Amino acid sequence: MGSFTSKANDELESFLNNRRGSMTSSNKNVSVLLGAQWGDEGKGKIIDYLIENHKINVTARCQGGNNAGHTVVANGRKYDFHILPSGIISPTCFNVIGNGVVVNLDAFFSELAHNGILDESGWEKRIMISSEAHLVFGVHSQVDGRQEDSLAAKNKIGTTNRGIGPTYSSKCFRNGIRVADLMADFEEFSEKYRRLVEHYKKQFPSIEVNVEEELGRFKQHREKLAELKLVGDTVGFIHDQRNAGKQVLIEGANGALLDIDFGTYPYVTSSNSTVGGACTGLGVPPTAVGNVIGVVKAYQTRVGTGPFPTELFDSDGEKLQSIGKEVGVTTGRKRRCGWIDLFLLRRSAIINGYTAIALTKLDILDTFPTIKVAVGYKLNGQVLTSPPAQANAWGAIEVEYKEFEGWNEPTVGVRKYEDLPEKCRQYIAFIEDFIKVPIVYIGVGAERESLIVRQ
Ligand code: GDP
Ligand code: IMO
Ligand code: MG
Repeated sequence: MGSFTSKANDELESFLNNRRGSMTSSNKNVSVLLGAQWGDEGKGKIIDYLIENHKINVTARCQGGNNAGHTVVANGRKYDFHILPSGIISPTCFNVIGNGVVVNLDAFFSELAHNGILDESGWEKRIMISSEAHLVFGVHSQVDGRQEDSLAAKNKIGTTNRGIGPTYSSKCFRNGIRVADLMADFEEFSEKYRRLVEHYKKQFPSIEVNVEEELGRFKQHREKLAELKLVGDTVGFIHDQRNAGKQVLIEGANGALLDIDFGTYPYVTSSNSTVGGACTGLGVPPTAVGNVIGVVKAYQTRVGTGPFPTELFDSDGEKLQSIGKEVGVTTGRKRRCGWIDLFLLRRSAIINGYTAIALTKLDILDTFPTIKVAVGYKLNGQVLTSPPAQANAWGAIEVEYKEFEGWNEPTVGVRKYEDLPEKCRQYIAFIEDFIKVPIVYIGVGAERESLIVRQ
């Protein structure tokens, strides 16, 4: 049976190779970069490095919205991107906001201004928003707040209050409004919008929406989008770019443990922030994906509520927070901090199939005498092989740790792996061995150049 299957597979493969010829692009020129924890792993910085050094032609956002906050320290300044792909700062990079993204147009235009992009000539020729993407309205943000208010204190998600969940709910409820609707007949768009507001007003009568004011703003956005030709068929665009041999980098937002399916549900965001979201959020086939890079912080952080078994409530936690400057880019909230959780990271690696890991913020651990890593979970005395699927179970998790002696030396200036302290290399090697994915990039500072790339 085994040999029959393998012979049949070989024959099929050879038949397909002959037949495919020029029929389809076999280029695996799409890379996907994803947060491997609860977000804020340092994705922005790694994306910036890849754009600069791997000749990336297109960067594309596939999911989430302006709940994301990606920091890039480059060109002598600090940029923060929420809805814009990080490639917007590279003059040679085209930027796509895909169908899977929920787009807040107010945020889009103000972010372009705030990051100085509008001052650069020709920026508008380097960005396209999918006509199939859904729009975030003021009413969605209000519903986000009302839904949070309606939950008991212990059940609150601690969302970014950007209307992300309600917009994805509208999309699934099938009364969502797409960018294409805005660009078509404005009267019909206005009618759809009014119906959406009425729908939510029935659910939350206290909502206050200035319908005419918001419609006025959307009319202006519409004119600007049309004038600058910012809306298009992003699926066709990426397909053409791929066929022309261009390199595409998909920029994941949020993180694997915030994924609507695989995260710590219900304390999650409302999209698939794991690798599948890259395909559905851009119309890119899985066969196009060559590399999947997981970005992992050398410790663990979380914004908002929800399970965090390795969270520290002691001076080590405070130290991680203050040295790591762990404050949310989007909401300014202090991030909760704890030791790296390899049990969850292994799960994240199984789901995403990482081909490489970028380990960031290693420098933040430089002065810790002891560093711990979570290597296993127990629940009611039983060793777990997978994270709990049920929210209540998380509270009773017992974490098994492995302890490392700290290296107590600055790593900030190190640029070669071999030059890292021995104990530091042991820490990295342990993580690599545990999740069975090579750690290729190591962050030792916020700046663009503070990165070790292993050859
Ligand atoms: P993202 O959402 O994954 O892009 O990450 P954020 O930008 O929200 O948060 C990561 C923070 O860590 C930012 O302030 C980065 O400038 C900073 N950062 C990224 N990599 C490193 C690193 O290797 N060392 C240090 N010290 N800071 C880093
Ligand atoms: P980046 O891309 C950290 C968290 C929120 C909240 C939960 C749901 O910067 O890594 P939402 O507004 O999405 O409905 O909130 O998800 N969250 C993030 N935390 N980094 C992010 O993005 C996040 N995006 C969402 O704090 O707990
Ligand atoms: Mg962030």
